[in-house]
Amino acid sequence: MPPVPAFGSRVLAKLDCQAGSLEQGATTKSAQPLLALIVMPLAKQLPADVPASDRVKEVLKRRGLKLADLAKTPLAIDQPGGGRYAYVMVDTAQARFAQLSVLRKAAMLLLEEDPREIHVVVCGADGQDALQLARESLYVLSLNGAVLPARKKKAAKPLKRIVLHSCPTGYGDFKAGDFRAVSALAEANTLARELTALPPNELTPGHYRQRVRALAKTQSWRIEEYDFKRLKKLGAGAFCAVAQGSHEQDAAIVHLSYRPKGLDKHAQRVALVGKGICFDTGGHNLKPAKYMAGMHEDMNGSAVALALLMAVQALRLPVAVDAWLAIAQNHISAQAYKQNDIITALDGTHIEVVHTDAEGRMVLADTLTLAARSKPDLLIDFATLTGSMVSALGNRYAGAFASSEALADLAVAAGRQAGERVSVFPMDEDYEAALDSKVADIKQCSLEGEADHILAARFLKRFTRDLPWLHIDLSSANCKGGLGAVASDITGFGVASGAALLAQWLAEHSG
Ligand code: BES
Ligand code: ZN
Ligand code: ZN
Repeated sequence: MPPVPAFGSRVLAKLDCQAGSLEQGATTKSAQPLLALIVMPLAKQLPADVPASDRVKEVLKRRGLKLADLAKTPLAIDQPGGGRYAYVMVDTAQARFAQLSVLRKAAMLLLEEDPREIHVVVCGADGQDALQLARESLYVLSLNGAVLPARKKKAAKPLKRIVLHSCPTGYGDFKAGDFRAVSALAEANTLARELTALPPNELTPGHYRQRVRALAKTQSWRIEEYDFKRLKKLGAGAFCAVAQGSHEQDAAIVHLSYRPKGLDKHAQRVALVGKGICFDTGGHNLKPAKYMAGMHEDMNGSAVALALLMAVQALRLPVAVDAWLAIAQNHISAQAYKQNDIITALDGTHIEVVHTDAEGRMVLADTLTLAARSKPDLLIDFATLTGSMVSALGNRYAGAFASSEALADLAVAAGRQAGERVSVFPMDEDYEAALDSKVADIKQCSLEGEADHILAARFLKRFTRDLPWLHIDLSSANCKGGLGAVASDITGFGVASGAALLAQWLAEHSG
């Protein structure tokens, strides 16, 4: 396989803020016809400054549509010169998820043409509304203008340039600085999706670690890799139980640290933990083909943690962050762990192995132990942990478990703010009775099929030293047809809401 471009060469579309209306600004040098996203707040009438508004009225009439239908079904109208305008109304009173969803639909009407350049005009809005609509449009276009890794002879090309026009009548000039945060989030989300999309023969643990190393260098993060040998010596039996099934000993727990320059000594410290199973066969309790398909995406939690670290840095949040990535594969082999093995985890807990497909909680147990040892003020883990969370929620929400009600509320609020929906699950102590073991301190899971997403959370909790902790079970890591702002099946869910959560948590806990 040809080498995939290294990090840093992946560039999202560049933003240009242009004074003047679409028609004035349409002196684009490219030979491409003009593609424009026309965004309006929900209103009873078409704003006066809408480009080619007569044609919009004509088409609506011809199709028997009402203006308000543009808030559900955006309309693409081909222009005489060969261009295309996509019109969308956004109800700014609605949840962010709904706003981003309809904007994504509109953006895709243009992106399906595989353009290099798209123009954006926000009409009929002023002040904060105009800025918010411009930000959301930009987020959606940047995200979906990126091209995820694929090996096709006729590969799609990424969007190169987004031209944002100042509103003809409403809001004044947009400045590039108004969009730094959304660009950072789009870039980080794209990183998470890219890594997750890579096929498992390419993104092996060894290759993944190489990429993380390269990224650490460009981002100036400190990096420390706990490889298999070292983990074995340390007594990280839970991680090694999973990793020992692979022929190549390339598994590792990768520790990244980001310390913003000039950060106060007493600043808050956050630890992010991610499940990085580059392929989950299920191990000896082998998955059937239908369920094994897609299991190269079982490293998504680690990609989200990594991308969130990048977002925190780009957003210049005043917080010290450590990321702990549990990178391994779950293979079947003569060396692989088995049902009834009794494993000693890094913190001394003896675990009775019940099902080799519950490998995520095994690798996370020791990774949480390492992360918790430095006593962060907040510990968050991301993992495609359980099929039962997918049964509970489908792929449109992620499930959250929290060590306190305040943290649970924060996770939901941050999800709402970012347009990534999060639902909180209970994790009362009595659930843990299902994990009582006759031969060890705890069972890894149960074969009885009781709410495994809750049992998994109870299991993980044992390794968090009762720190303030949030566990995100990423049932929404892959949603067919896209989700919210994102049009690809792989969603990068957790990056935007994670960043919103950290910003909010810092506002509550600093100073
Ligand atoms: N990675 C899977 C969970 C998963 C499957 C997440 C599909 C998202 C989509 C995990 O390692 C797993 O296989 N869990 C088992 C646990 C069970 C054996 C207790 C499951 O859910 O079946
Ligand atoms: Zn599994
Ligand atoms: Zn798994």
